[in-house]
Amino acid sequence: MKKVYIKTLGCQINEYDSNIILNILYRNHKLEETLNMYDADILILNTCSVRDKVDSKSLSELGTWKKIKEYNSNIIICICGCFAYLNSKFFIKNTPFVDIIFSPKTIHEISNMLTTFLETKKKIIQLEAPILEKFNYVYENKTHSYSSSITIMEGCNKFCTYCIVPFSRGKEISRSFNSIISEIYSKIINGSSELILLGQNVTSYYNLINNSKFIDFPFLLDYTSRIEGINRLKFISSHPSDFTSKLIDIIKNNEVISKHIHLPLQSGSNKILRLMNRSYDIKYYKDIFNELKSNDNSIFISTDIIIGFPGETDKDFEETFNIFDELKFDNSYIYIYSDRPGTLSFNMADKINNIKKKSRLERLNKLLDLNRKYINNSMVGKIYRVIIYKIVNNICFGKTDNNRSVVFKDHYFNVGKSVLILINHISNNIFYGKSLK
Ligand code: SAM
Ligand code: SF4
Ligand code: F3S
Repeated sequence: MKKVYIKTLGCQINEYDSNIILNILYRNHKLEETLNMYDADILILNTCSVRDKVDSKSLSELGTWKKIKEYNSNIIICICGCFAYLNSKFFIKNTPFVDIIFSPKTIHEISNMLTTFLETKKKIIQLEAPILEKFNYVYENKTHSYSSSITIMEGCNKFCTYCIVPFSRGKEISRSFNSIISEIYSKIINGSSELILLGQNVTSYYNLINNSKFIDFPFLLDYTSRIEGINRLKFISSHPSDFTSKLIDIIKNNEVISKHIHLPLQSGSNKILRLMNRSYDIKYYKDIFNELKSNDNSIFISTDIIIGFPGETDKDFEETFNIFDELKFDNSYIYIYSDRPGTLSFNMADKINNIKKKSRLERLNKLLDLNRKYINNSMVGKIYRVIIYKIVNNICFGKTDNNRSVVFKDHYFNVGKSVLILINHISNNIFYGKSLK
């Protein structure tokens, strides 16, 4: 059987797209996935362009693949994803060893592109298609883990001034309700009990059922959580501006919906938030944070922060540091600002130098570590819902909503089951506990 190797960079939506590609290639060409690139007949690079470092990773991977092709001229090299889409002209001109170039919109065309390439041996470039078309080609493979992701919307209309996503993924568009629900059912049939709803801004989801009933994200979340077989329902990413009281109410009063919310803040300074075009201020963010947390210590909030946005003074950074200290996020992805050609901030003055950015990053990372220790310790002696992902000799391995690893002994349970665990102690970042039956 011929083999395909796929390397995916970037976000979970790219991972989801890569799965669609693999399933199409398996179904139509009997191509099996290999994790060893030197063993493959086809190499696919699914790229990202959110920061410059990830662009460099793609270019370095392609450098290695070029050498592989020098030894094995039969190997087929494909490149897709956001970086490939944004820079298609560059790849057409400068990478003659790349055989197929496609985009996040045309992943479902991989089978046709491959057939045409095999017939003609001519470079194939296919970048445009209606964005929702690919969801008609979501085939299931048979080997599912307990956790699966499902893209419910794509693109973004928010145009944060630093972000390339609205350019690489285009305008926001929501997938049809029926298509989402039917994919959810097939994931459950294949053994998943934890589902993650994906989108650049899932909270902006809206659609019509049967061309009449309007539905929004709170409706979709609530409806999905009631489907039998789902033990935990997560979603990522949400935008603070779309986080309504109605949504908070649904999250708090529903056992199946994960109590871990990812709510990107980006900066603790109102001035920087304005420059970023984030459309909320710190007071608004804190109000949502506190509404989520009020009377409920099982809610965990994580965030994204950008360090060194153009114009970020020491005072602006101190404001980020202070709100970070005050809110004690459960986790945070802290990114150094990266200039993205084509975005508004690319042309902004007052760029921050690398030394300053790195020292700010270090300070914030130290605080994050302290906060995590504080949160970990506060979890001891409390009860959390845990989904079991592995059982070995009656030892169960599970994950809490906020992704902490939990180990406990029991012989009554199966993989995928949701159980309540009283945490006894922590050792090396692993939580030990006992189940409450
Ligand atoms: N839609 C989500 C939101 O609004 O929060 C985030 C999606 S984005 C792909 C993931 C994260 O990458 C962002 O939250 C931001 O922190 C970070 N990011 C995006 N552009 C960046 C840039 N130019 N430099 C550094 N970090 C960036
Ligand atoms: Fe990028 Fe902002 Fe859209 Fe998130 S909301 S994807 S950060 S433009
Ligand atoms: Fe990267 Fe595109 Fe995702 S730029 S973060 S792969 S939407």
